[in-house]
Amino acid sequence: MAVGIFDSGLGGLTVLDAVAKRLPDVPLVYLGDSAHAPYGVRTPDDIYNLTTAATTRLFDAGCDLVILACNTASAAALRRMQESWVPKDKRVLGVFVPMIEALTERQWGDNSPPREVAAKHVALFATPATVASRAFQRELAFRAIGVDVEAQACGGVVDAIEDGDMILADALVRSHVDALMRKMPSPDAAILGCTHYPLMEAEFQAALGPDVKVFSQANLVADSLADYLTRRPEMVGPGTDAAFLTTGDPKKVSARATQFLRRQITFTAA
Ligand code: DGL
Repeated sequence: MAVGIFDSGLGGLTVLDAVAKRLPDVPLVYLGDSAHAPYGVRTPDDIYNLTTAATTRLFDAGCDLVILACNTASAAALRRMQESWVPKDKRVLGVFVPMIEALTERQWGDNSPPREVAAKHVALFATPATVASRAFQRELAFRAIGVDVEAQACGGVVDAIEDGDMILADALVRSHVDALMRKMPSPDAAILGCTHYPLMEAEFQAALGPDVKVFSQANLVADSLADYLTRRPEMVGPGTDAAFLTTGDPKKVSARATQFLRRQITFTAA
């Protein structure tokens, strides 16, 4: 009864951690494609090919339901996968919708027409590929009207986090927040639209100031998954073993993951 969680690298661990706390009895198989990270500078075709390969590996590990805990894959590949690739008895879900539902004060699956919401000026921080896809704005437009979104492509932040260079990551976060605030001086809300960024949430909040509400995905996705599994309990797959798989160097990746989650995490080769 395993659920798969996929990211290009370590960022999806923020989602895994929240899901593990929310659903302690569900074995989770995590796959980080660190050999190919970052995805945020790749083309949509490249992201699609890498994401389908990783998702197949998670199906093979006994997961019928795979969460793309990667906004870049959710933005650039998910729709195409759902339309023409995902087998009938499997499900692949992304991380965008739970966050947009929270921002637009909606319950799970509320398909009523778009309406006005409290947040009027929203800052979106994401990878270059996610920003280029405009997937966030598209999903938001289905649910809310009158929201002004300013997006900032945060080049370099994922690389710095994957390399464990948190000083560089901090400097880059500050410079990306500065750049955003030159375009939108007073956002009401900020979306951390990359699962690596919760690892820098305190830095984003400090740079944005206390008046900006920061939305970060991990808990929102965990709640939404718990809700989904109560409705669709059969989607917990046949696998019984939790695992951490990486396409990168297991030793290096285990050390970084242990540092980020502050508990021992041991990756093996995917
Ligand atoms: N964690 C991925 C995301 O949410 C990072 C993508 C990348 O590898 O650039 O977008």
